[in-house]
Amino acid sequence: MIILGIETSCDDTGAAVVQNGREILSNVVSSQDRFHRRFSGVVPEIASRKHLESVHFTVLEALDEAGVAPREIDAIAVTNRPGLIGSLLVGISAAKGYAYSWKKPLIPVNHLAGHLYAPGLTAEVSWPLIGLVVSGGHTLLVIAHSPMDLEIVGSTIDDAVGEVYDKIAKHFGLGYPGGPVLDRLAVEGDSAAYAFPRTYLQDNDRHRYNFSFSGIKTAVIHQRHQFLRKPGVGSDDRLPDIAASFQAAAVDVLLAKTAQLVKDTGITRVAVSGGVAANSYLRARFGEQDGFEVYLPEPRFCTDNAAMIAGVAASSDQVLDYRAALGLEAYSRVVERVRGDAVLPPAAGNRGEV
Ligand code: KG4
Ligand code: ZN
Repeated sequence: MIILGIETSCDDTGAAVVQNGREILSNVVSSQDRFHRRFSGVVPEIASRKHLESVHFTVLEALDEAGVAPREIDAIAVTNRPGLIGSLLVGISAAKGYAYSWKKPLIPVNHLAGHLYAPGLTAEVSWPLIGLVVSGGHTLLVIAHSPMDLEIVGSTIDDAVGEVYDKIAKHFGLGYPGGPVLDRLAVEGDSAAYAFPRTYLQDNDRHRYNFSFSGIKTAVIHQRHQFLRKPGVGSDDRLPDIAASFQAAAVDVLLAKTAQLVKDTGITRVAVSGGVAANSYLRARFGEQDGFEVYLPEPRFCTDNAAMIAGVAASSDQVLDYRAALGLEAYSRVVERVRGDAVLPPAAGNRGEV
């Protein structure tokens, strides 16, 4: 089964051809970073316009690289939720056009299911598993009962962790996206130089699996002097120390909440995905703990891509005939089940603000 995947939920235009959910015949990502850089965050209007310019060429390139003709494709998969609504609409409109003109079925895909499937592109993964999605738009704890059946149990109640990386980098004038820059800087830094706050929220109540990163962000940006623990280590403007200490605080919380969900559910497999899962410090910390088995996608499959969309679509039973496909809608928020008091992610689209 050969699936063409299309991903346009945020600021990367992706197209990929994947066979049987595992064999990646092509995976093309057209990055818009340079258009958003001077705003230090994703500008939704620019994102949708750039998707419009590049989606067709990205799809053609993916088909060409895979050496696959449209008639050889069995289905088209497209991200239809959650994400920036204008960006999603460009992807689903393109996908509908291909489905209709090539008479191919269309499979709608939840972007988060794609992220959690990403480790499965290159390794054997079995379900159910716990999913931790850490990206610019999301920080979520999920029980993935199967690849397409997700139950959201926790979320950030303010900033997503990737967003905090980007805003810290913006504040220190380090460019966009901030994650990779802080990742590199932190390698030279002392993670014990600053005791930035760890925000666990209250345990055993509605925030058991929820996150909050805005306090850590504020401490790192505005109050770092107060948290300087080792004055002898360096000046309070030593960016590598700030970066390393920030990461230590953020990852401590991510690890603790994930371990709590593992303990509560007895599910000992954990997939960590999303752009921040490319972070070298996070990968090392999750890799060295021994309370659960960790699946980490290759870094290129952590950030947004269409291979994960085409891959997970092979497990979907929601296959729309090309005529029914024309009625497919996009949703800016998740429409999957959300357990009890889990707080829904904040609306996407506010990432450029501080
Ligand atoms: O999954 P993604 O490509 O797009 C969203 O769905 O948001 O994630 C992008 C986010 C950005 O905030 C970026 O700064 C962060 O992932 N990121 C990283 C790293 N690479 C990307 N954060 C920390 N360390 C990295 N190496
Ligand atoms: Zn994403």
